[in-house]
Amino acid sequence: MNPSIDFDAIARDRLPALLRTMPKAELHLHIEGTLEPELIFRLAQRNGVALPYPSVDALRAAYAFTDLQSFLDLYYAGAGVLQTEQDFFDMAWAYFERAAADNVVHAEVFFDPQTHTERGVGIETVIVGLEHACRRAHAEYGLSAKLILCFLRHLSEEAAFATLEQALPYRQHFIGVGLDSSERGHPPEKFARVFARCRELGLHVVAHAGEEGPPAYIESALDVLKVERIDHGVRCTEDPALVRRLAASRVPLTVCPLSNVKLRVFDTLADHNLKTLLAAGLCATVNSDDPAYFGGYVNDNFVQTFAALPALNARDAWQLAANSFDASFVPDAQKAGWRQRLDATFAAAAASG
Ligand code: HPA
Ligand code: ZN
Repeated sequence: MNPSIDFDAIARDRLPALLRTMPKAELHLHIEGTLEPELIFRLAQRNGVALPYPSVDALRAAYAFTDLQSFLDLYYAGAGVLQTEQDFFDMAWAYFERAAADNVVHAEVFFDPQTHTERGVGIETVIVGLEHACRRAHAEYGLSAKLILCFLRHLSEEAAFATLEQALPYRQHFIGVGLDSSERGHPPEKFARVFARCRELGLHVVAHAGEEGPPAYIESALDVLKVERIDHGVRCTEDPALVRRLAASRVPLTVCPLSNVKLRVFDTLADHNLKTLLAAGLCATVNSDDPAYFGGYVNDNFVQTFAALPALNARDAWQLAANSFDASFVPDAQKAGWRQRLDATFAAAAASG
């Protein structure tokens, strides 16, 4: 906590603008989840892919999800239009333009190679296209962008090992590995050996856990996979001992409020447990997950969640941004620079009421 900022001097009606302008890191973003319906149609046309929807509006109208799987079915189908390096570049570049406009200064971006290699797209096409966009984001916006390779947990550990092998020639282009896709019935321990190998290789390790799956999956992600962050993790509040453990260890949770409502983890944003997580001392962050599917990018997540949860205040806004830097996989000196910018933003807001 930063004692030199007078958070109480910041009027509540100033919060939306402050949430938008404050520098932040985005740590839970699936690049395939940034494919807007307009871009899906443009890429389908460019690549001669037939879509089962007559229009952009008809596709968007299909985004009425009942749970994680109902979303994943559409998300994997949408990703089917991606074929060339240029396609992957265009998708990622569109995201970085939006992220820069949201004052994201650092993004650790998930990608799902198996979604593409299973369709016959080479892993080099995926990684090189994405990496090109990361480099341009840094050059044009000063936005540092890093890639995290996710294994699909509904597939086997052998398939994950094969994907790791295919990716290793491009090792310098990704900083870590994650675990996503259908959570229920696919516990973290299914991937114990491949995660051990990734740790030996010096890769950072994270995993989705406690989104739809039980708190026990958060524990096995920590104990078996030895992850450095938990993606989602919101179901931890069902287990008070686990909440105490997460608070004491400061293992970050990358929380995605709009995603949680769209996938029915919470009925409404007003029911979300973000304030509870912060009040318990957890290193929670706010992120957008699959913004093209869930109705908003990271600033939409911040602004809508603060509007729905009146208990969230200026101190929480500062804490969430500070947590996003603390939780990122960058050297301490880089974190310190972003923290200074964050503190200056809040000090100026406090000085002007
Ligand atoms: N959960 C699991 N897998 C995913 C998600 C998610 O929210 N988004 C993209 N793949
Ligand atoms: Zn996710």
